[in-house]
Amino acid sequence: MNFLIPGGAGYIGIHIAFLLLDSGHDVVIIDNFSNSSSESIDDLENLMGRKITFYQSNISDETELNRIFTKHSFDAVIHLAALKSVSESILKPNEYFKNNCNGTSCLLSVMRSFGVKNLIYSSSATVYGIPRYLPIDEKHPLSSNNPYAETKLKIEEELRSISEAEDGWKIVCLRYFNPVGAHESGLIGENPRGIPNNLMPHIVNVANGELPHINIYGNDYDTIDGTGVRDYVHIMDLSESHLLALNYIGLKVINHEDIELSSIAKAGFHIFNIGTGKGCSVLELIRTFEEVNNVKIPYKFASRRPGDVASCYADVHRSAQAFKWIATKGVEEMCSSAWNFKIRS
Ligand code: WQD
Repeated sequence: MNFLIPGGAGYIGIHIAFLLLDSGHDVVIIDNFSNSSSESIDDLENLMGRKITFYQSNISDETELNRIFTKHSFDAVIHLAALKSVSESILKPNEYFKNNCNGTSCLLSVMRSFGVKNLIYSSSATVYGIPRYLPIDEKHPLSSNNPYAETKLKIEEELRSISEAEDGWKIVCLRYFNPVGAHESGLIGENPRGIPNNLMPHIVNVANGELPHINIYGNDYDTIDGTGVRDYVHIMDLSESHLLALNYIGLKVINHEDIELSSIAKAGFHIFNIGTGKGCSVLELIRTFEEVNNVKIPYKFASRRPGDVASCYADVHRSAQAFKWIATKGVEEMCSSAWNFKIRS
């Protein structure tokens, strides 16, 4: 089968592309390199020992999308093309709405006109806002307190409406918690532009000596040790969930012992959390990183980061039940693979 991956040169996309290629499928990647570079395509080519079909393009460029859809036929689209920084979205809301929402609408209309109605959409736990209860299941109320989260919510609404209004759409929306780690080869991994916002890339840069220490934002939360608790999920587990989600909508991309595909070609719009179901504090993550990699991570406590919540972790029963996806890799592997990628790149 052949899959289009808008945003496929980014951290998550490159790992999904790897798994699909490794399972014998083809991918076409579109990316505008807003938070990635052609290096990740080179890295994937090195890992696979083959050329990858790739277009440097925007999903809001309808003419270019039409050209790509005319040239290739796709079994499904795995849509990851989005701007994703909360703080940047507060400064540049128009860019976020234009890129994320208009871009997705454009992609959807081209998909429709070419009769490609299978879609895996990359959403985020950010749509839950401040947790009202834990673990967060998919029925948790939705809210947004920044433009980035608003774009994710708006797009989810558009996907739901389209799938209700028009026949044939099979859409799976995956709400990611906190993806971290890298492929075991150390050849592909997370390589954000500029100074990273997220915790793991920061830890890695401190370990490498690029930054002198890490600021831990808040040590007075109501958590195990006062620092923020999140649901970190290994990038390879998270990537695998996309393949199982494709199985769920009737495209047999990988064999899975427990799934009877004929009975589950699901039409409509389906939402799943993608996390481990386990919380891990900032200090726990730092200590694990130090232990498994035998490095020192100097840290200082700083004030809470605006917009942060104390704890956020997923209820993961729905994806386990629907398409038998369960995260298998622990925090140790997340830390060792993230460091392995850094020292090899
Ligand atoms: C994790 C914990 C920080 C950096 C983000 C996005 C969200 C979603 C997931 C995409 C928190 C603490 C961090 C640092 C720290 N992404 N921290 N020092 O905040 O859960 O969510 O990723 O959809 O939209 O906002 O992840 O990695 O930024 O932070 O102490 O230098 O680490 O306060 O407790 P977060 P994160």
